[in-house]
Amino acid sequence: MGFSLNTYPIIYRSQFIDGKWTGGYLEKPHKTPEEEAAMSADERAKLQNSRNYYDDMPLVNYTSQYGLACFEGLKAFPQKNGGLSIFRPEKNAARFARSMEGLYMPPFPEKTFLEAVTETVKRNAALGFYPHYNDGWEKDSFMSADSVYIRPFTVAEGGIGVNVSSEPYVFVINTPVAAYFSSERSDAVITDKIRATPKGTGWIKACSNYVISTLAKAEALKMGYMECVYLDAVHRKYVEEGSSCNIFFYLKSGELVTPELGDTILPGITRESIIELARDRGVKVSERKVPIDEVMEETMECFVSGTAAGATPLTSLTYDGKKTVFNDGKTGQLTAEIRDTIKGIQYGKLPDTKGWMMKVI
Ligand code: COI
Repeated sequence: MGFSLNTYPIIYRSQFIDGKWTGGYLEKPHKTPEEEAAMSADERAKLQNSRNYYDDMPLVNYTSQYGLACFEGLKAFPQKNGGLSIFRPEKNAARFARSMEGLYMPPFPEKTFLEAVTETVKRNAALGFYPHYNDGWEKDSFMSADSVYIRPFTVAEGGIGVNVSSEPYVFVINTPVAAYFSSERSDAVITDKIRATPKGTGWIKACSNYVISTLAKAEALKMGYMECVYLDAVHRKYVEEGSSCNIFFYLKSGELVTPELGDTILPGITRESIIELARDRGVKVSERKVPIDEVMEETMECFVSGTAAGATPLTSLTYDGKKTVFNDGKTGQLTAEIRDTIKGIQYGKLPDTKGWMMKVI
């Protein structure tokens, strides 16, 4: 399945019109999951793709013309004891509102966000559309596990002038996903592309930030790497992020470092959770500037983090033609502990001592 789109039938849509958000749930064409599974691959693809089309949306709008939009990514996890729970959705609700404000849109109310997110998952599950817990996932630390990816996003109203969006739509769709990074080895390369600049939109989950990510990642894949890593725009010296995720380095000194938040770094919810989990283990965690030279010399372990990525180890990093292999190319101990703890909490294998999981069914 990987990280691919198969939109579940129930979708939420709202628009800010006449000074208020007006929205509701749409039920797109579907059969039962069993009936869909029994269809020919072509017929199934046709039905599932049809759930991604809307004929009453303005095609020429500030999103399609100028990239003015933002989104969120969160997951509902099948629980070991049954049911589905979402990881820290109130954090995504708050970030979505901040992103919209950052784009000068009317913010989507956090309470409505939480309702739409939980209700789409609940309604899709009631139709049978949800993944079931599989004990086999525990064998590979949930690397092959499924979840429901929840994608809230904005679409601007129709228009052609270079304007901000004052009547945006908000959609929430669900799709089943598996691992984001698929390869066993995950070699990364420093890209010469620039993701974000001071005073820009790097701190916002703006769609436009991901344009450079698609290009830089495509270049990295073409060169045989799985991932690319950005340096800062001004000094070209400090590490910023992976292609679409935050990044951590566990240094020989015993310090776990990650770039400090600012204009150019996305405030990741997985990032924040990992910092807390590592500190709980007594690890010294620093959010600071992280020079690439220090990383190439001093790193024992490296991993990227995000909703989609979880905590995925990078086995090597290549910069300026030189390659540093971390931990002999194997997943390091701290990386594994952090990955297993966060996945364990998310899938209900470990107790949720932090109150991070919101039960949906
Ligand atoms: C996520 O981790 O959910 C993200 O939003 C990154 C995405 C582009 C895969």
